[in-house]
Amino acid sequence: MSRDTVKFRCQACGYVTTKWMGRCPDCGTWNSIIEESSIKGHTKSVQDIEPIPLSDVSFSEDTRVSTGIKELDRVLGGGIVSGSVVLIGGDPGVGKSTLLLQTMAGLLRDSSARGLYVSAEESAQQVKLRSNRLGIDTKNILVLPETRIEKVLDYIERIKPALVVVDSIQTIYTETLSSAPGTVAQVRECSAKLTVSAKRYNIPLFIIGHVTKEGAIAGPRVLEHIVDTVLYFEGDKSQAFRILRAVKNRFGSTNEIGVFEMTDSGLKEVKNPSELFLSGQETPSPGTVLTATLEGTRSIIIEIQALVTPTTFGMPRRTSIGVDVQRSNLLIAVLEKIGGLHLGLSDIYVNVVGGLRVFEPAVDLAVAMAIATSFRNATVDRDTILIGEIGLSGEVRAVSQIETRLKEAEKIGLKKAVIPQTNLSSRISTTMQLSGVKNIREVLEMTR
Ligand code: TYD
Ligand code: MG
Repeated sequence: MSRDTVKFRCQACGYVTTKWMGRCPDCGTWNSIIEESSIKGHTKSVQDIEPIPLSDVSFSEDTRVSTGIKELDRVLGGGIVSGSVVLIGGDPGVGKSTLLLQTMAGLLRDSSARGLYVSAEESAQQVKLRSNRLGIDTKNILVLPETRIEKVLDYIERIKPALVVVDSIQTIYTETLSSAPGTVAQVRECSAKLTVSAKRYNIPLFIIGHVTKEGAIAGPRVLEHIVDTVLYFEGDKSQAFRILRAVKNRFGSTNEIGVFEMTDSGLKEVKNPSELFLSGQETPSPGTVLTATLEGTRSIIIEIQALVTPTTFGMPRRTSIGVDVQRSNLLIAVLEKIGGLHLGLSDIYVNVVGGLRVFEPAVDLAVAMAIATSFRNATVDRDTILIGEIGLSGEVRAVSQIETRLKEAEKIGLKKAVIPQTNLSSRISTTMQLSGVKNIREVLEMTR
């Protein structure tokens, strides 16, 4: 083998070098560079395509097909676009295979078209077992327990299915490469081949990708470039709910989420997520405050809880789950300096009920008041939500889409809202009783 046919490639970022190195100079990962021989028969686009004027290119919303699962449709931007390639990443056991089997059944629900489920990880029996649990029994789903990409492409060409699912990309390999399945070279080559095939036959394709310990899809950058849409399926295994989030989407917005609940018979859509993220207690208790967060075009009512206890050993502990630790530390500092609360000798724990993660400053006021009420043993009424961003001088800043948030609160039966004064000036149509605040001190007064 001549010198230039041997290459070394970083498995984390795809960086290529002619000699082995202990550390990738591009991404800085240690021990990620692996030898690979050059690629024979590299993927080429086979079709002859003529350039056409942009005005003549037709695209209508009709090219989208509903999956029958509304939460998934929303994240995709309104349904599956034919010929699009979607990568779904997530921790093992989160429910990727379940979601895609349900999607396939949903898509083929009343048509005679066939779907191809390439099961490179599990046997056909295992897929059958899962489909039994899900109550899916259809002749239209073809299961292919195959790991060689050439065979898979062969079947796609022969069957021309209405949908292809590849479970998972890390277990599929091409014989033209000598490296092991799951390496960047294999993952990239197989995805490229699948993508070409999907585009050529205009078949929507779902690829399942495993997530590394660091939380990225293995062979991350290389894969994310090739595909049209990247979705992450997240969820705590101790909790029943799962969130589907778009990270990249050529056909829609990336800030929509889909909420699901894992049940005994598969994933169920959660139509009203607000109810899921509330603790369900009726009477107010210190340290619990309701607020409204935005996820895409939707608002979700969540409950922030805080517990403030005296520190027993010297250094106070500051923990927060679901909200950024830095952010809550900042709010603690504002409460001390502007609000005059002496929190220096207290352990402070902050938690978002239900396990949701929020990174929106609009929940600041609720986090601050959860801490303050726990510290003072005061309460905020259960029918009240607090919305507002807090600045370093204690000012309560305006938040976006206040009306959407209030509408959601109204929907679940809340009566009162404390919102930034600046938001109050814009005309808001709501039946809720609104009070505008300018500074954190005013809010602290209200709950004294
Ligand atoms: P699975 O789809 O196999 O996850 P992934 O493909 O992401 O690895 O599902 C994993 C878990 O979901 C498994 O631990 C069992 C559970 N599960 C249910 O609770 N109910 C069900 O109906 C199904 C099919 C799975
Ligand atoms: Mg699986």
